[in-house]
Amino acid sequence: MAATQSPSGSLRPDQRLRDVGLFLRQALRTFRATGAIAPSGPALANALTRFVDEREDPSAPLTILEAGAGTGAVSRAIVRHMRAGDTLDLVEPNSHFVGHLADLLATDPDFVRVADRVTVHQALVTDLGPDRRFDVIVSGLPFANFTAEEVREILEYYFTVLKPGGHLSFFGYLYTKEVKAVIAPREDYLRQARSSWVVQEWVDRYGIGTERVLPNIPPAWIHHLRKPTE
Ligand SMILES: C[S@@+](CC[C@H](N)C(=O)[O-])C[C@H]1O[C@@H](n2cnc3c(N)ncnc32)[C@H](O)[C@@H]1O
Repeated sequence: MAATQSPSGSLRPDQRLRDVGLFLRQALRTFRATGAIAPSGPALANALTRFVDEREDPSAPLTILEAGAGTGAVSRAIVRHMRAGDTLDLVEPNSHFVGHLADLLATDPDFVRVADRVTVHQALVTDLGPDRRFDVIVSGLPFANFTAEEVREILEYYFTVLKPGGHLSFFGYLYTKEVKAVIAPREDYLRQARSSWVVQEWVDRYGIGTERVLPNIPPAWIHHLRKPTE
């Protein structure tokens, strides 16, 4: 049966509770990969989809990749902004989240509208291979939990499959390094510091804007990057 939405299009409290419950269970099971205790809120999801919404050529359809779709909080904002001809690849390794995304595509009106142009891949994003090309990449991967080498491999992958002039938007949480400096083992603090230097290297090279999204739990930052045209 098709799920009904509230008139504003935001999630009903029972849907939000269902998604938070699923997310929290997976975070408890595997925090390193899940990287948060709750799905992104609507303000963060909307800010991440800026380059699906704002287009240089409004008549040209977009190829969109979302890495780390989780319970679909950001995917929902993406599908709401999708126009005729746009396609979306959702990548998510966790089978519980993949099952949930398949459900949304079959029953949720926001997703059903574009379901024939959305593909869900149960995979790590780098396993999609180098031959695809995207105009927009939205990444929800928890870089703060990864090693510097993993972050570099993923950013290199994004810039391989991004078209010249294409955009990458990704986020992390504010103050995690400062909190870790106080409460985490020194090794973990140093690992995160090294990962964040890799992120900063890419932001210095390709960054076109940084935002803070305070109405999110926890508050977040977003970086927007653009691949040069030559
Ligand atoms: C912080 S959650 C973000 C979920 C969702 N985008 C949101 O904002 O609510 C990170 C997600 O990335 C997924 N993930 C972790 N490593 C991944 C990888 N290498 N490739 C693709 N997804 C990955 C996790 O399973 C998890 O669903």
